[in-house]
Amino acid sequence: MYRTKTCGELRLTNAGEQVTLAGWVQRVRKMGGMTFVELRDRYGITQLVFDEKQSPDLFAKAEELGREYVVQAMGSVRERYSKNPKIPTGDIEIVVSDLNILNTSETPPFTIEDHTDGGDDLRMKYRYLDLRRNCVRKNLELRHKVCIEVRKWLDSKGFLEIETPVLINSTPEGARDFVVPSRMNPGQFYALPQSPQLFKQLLMVAGMDRYFQIVKCFRDEDLRADRQPEFTQIDCEMSFVEQDDVISLFEEMIKHLFDATIGYNDFPAHLQRMTWQDAMKYYGSDKPDLRFGMTFVELDHELKGTGSFGVFNDANYIGGICAKGCAGYSRKQQNELVDFVKTPQIGAQGITFIKIAEDGTPKSSIEKFYSPEVLDKVKVVMGAEPGDLILIMCGNDAMKTRKQLCELRLEMGQRLGLRDKNKFALLWVVDFPMFEWSEEEQRLMAMHHPFTSPKPEDIALLDTHPEQVRANAYDMVCNGVEIGGGSVRIHDSVLQQKIFKILGLTPETVEKRFKYLVRAFKYGAPPHAGLAYGLDRLVSILAGLDSIRDCIAFPKNNSGRDQMVDAPTVLEPEQLQELNLKVVLPEKK
Ligand code: AMO
Repeated sequence: MYRTKTCGELRLTNAGEQVTLAGWVQRVRKMGGMTFVELRDRYGITQLVFDEKQSPDLFAKAEELGREYVVQAMGSVRERYSKNPKIPTGDIEIVVSDLNILNTSETPPFTIEDHTDGGDDLRMKYRYLDLRRNCVRKNLELRHKVCIEVRKWLDSKGFLEIETPVLINSTPEGARDFVVPSRMNPGQFYALPQSPQLFKQLLMVAGMDRYFQIVKCFRDEDLRADRQPEFTQIDCEMSFVEQDDVISLFEEMIKHLFDATIGYNDFPAHLQRMTWQDAMKYYGSDKPDLRFGMTFVELDHELKGTGSFGVFNDANYIGGICAKGCAGYSRKQQNELVDFVKTPQIGAQGITFIKIAEDGTPKSSIEKFYSPEVLDKVKVVMGAEPGDLILIMCGNDAMKTRKQLCELRLEMGQRLGLRDKNKFALLWVVDFPMFEWSEEEQRLMAMHHPFTSPKPEDIALLDTHPEQVRANAYDMVCNGVEIGGGSVRIHDSVLQQKIFKILGLTPETVEKRFKYLVRAFKYGAPPHAGLAYGLDRLVSILAGLDSIRDCIAFPKNNSGRDQMVDAPTVLEPEQLQELNLKVVLPEKK
């Protein structure tokens, strides 16, 4: 037997017991005739003691130990003279009576500690060492717990976990596909699923009634802190349900997950539902962070045409936010904010500031363009009080300006410490528009996907004003992150054809891409609806992480590379030949 106990379980009550432990050497401390070794495994750290006087041979052997050596130690548990209250095993130590070095280790390229000296690239290259760190391992444990709870909960509600294929053809989720060449079908390619969307709908046609799957999805899109090229969804679909049924059920599931995994249950009985219109109007985002207020106030009425400030007079949208207690912001702090909104990622022109002095007077660089009454009115509509700072942005394109103001609001929230990682603001965003205009493609595109049902009361608008049609689609948002989204699906083939037509999909394209779905829908498709959560995003929120990478065992970097296995790579000429592929690289500029 390699061990009788783990390195995390011994307590004072075990004093006097003979035990065998196995693990990695975290640290060796030499203090005169005594050597202390911290032995680590997944469960914790236990101190081993070697006393030169009592056992000189063992003491000499302990001298050989280096960081990350794998050892087995036998000995007796004893109460520690100087206790370590920081770790659960800190009351005891093991007086070693036998020591086996099971494996040696090269010196690791970074310290295996919560506050490591290893940079991102190095940690990713040696991810298996990074995963030995407590703080990283903890995230994987939480992820495991979430998965187990999801499975238990959905099983208790009658959901069946059914696997869908990974080698398929394109799914219409809007990102680029990753493709796989088929050796047996020369010149043909599979695509990896962006989600199992169509398969889960076919499972509803198949009468499975309630389906779920914790499933890998693949999207070839630009990467960000909350995006990976391969990520995991908790994918769900139900038959004979309406939007409300899905929303209520999954609200219950998410609350259960927060409670069961991190013991958080401070949610209202019913989560807020905000229309997409309101989310854009008050937060400039379809995923508003509701941990703090600072909602947008439109100031067109107050500031456009009421003074001689050309910038506002020419704008199509003027919006402001009120930062409580920030009137003391220095010029430097204001300039930092202006520089922030001017970065290419945000692309705004600038910010106008109005400080509310202690006596309630608005003070601003635009004072010269407006009468005091106008600025007073702004103060009132903004709900600003003495000591507050009003930040105003304007632009020609209302939607674009709102998005820029959203970035400023989030930045202010961050600076003011209002984005507390221990607080969770969950909501549903509902009534998304069915379509959005794509400049690139010069056509309407489905905002969610082409199988999303319009709101019944808007169906009449499909023929006249498709851009005004709202969808029976919903997203769940937590702390400004879209953690899940779904919709009621179209189950009527006539309506589906109509939507395809509005999306500019020719009957030939439909035939080519979705013929199996169209065919299946001729055989009694039940009304159905569903949604999918991003597991990585959910776990990273529960764990309070800044990037979803930290809860993925082997993530990719921002260029989509796995730095540990060094993928992607070029193929050998023989492999290419077998696959009938020829690589033609674009000429270097
Ligand atoms: P959607 O595209 O909104 O819907 O995806 C569902 C959820 O998956 C997560 N997600 C991602 N997480 C990490 N990296 C990515 N690149 C990434 N892309 C998406 C998000 C998102 O809310 N088939 C539909 C669902 C449905 O209608 O039932 C779908 O995939 O948290």
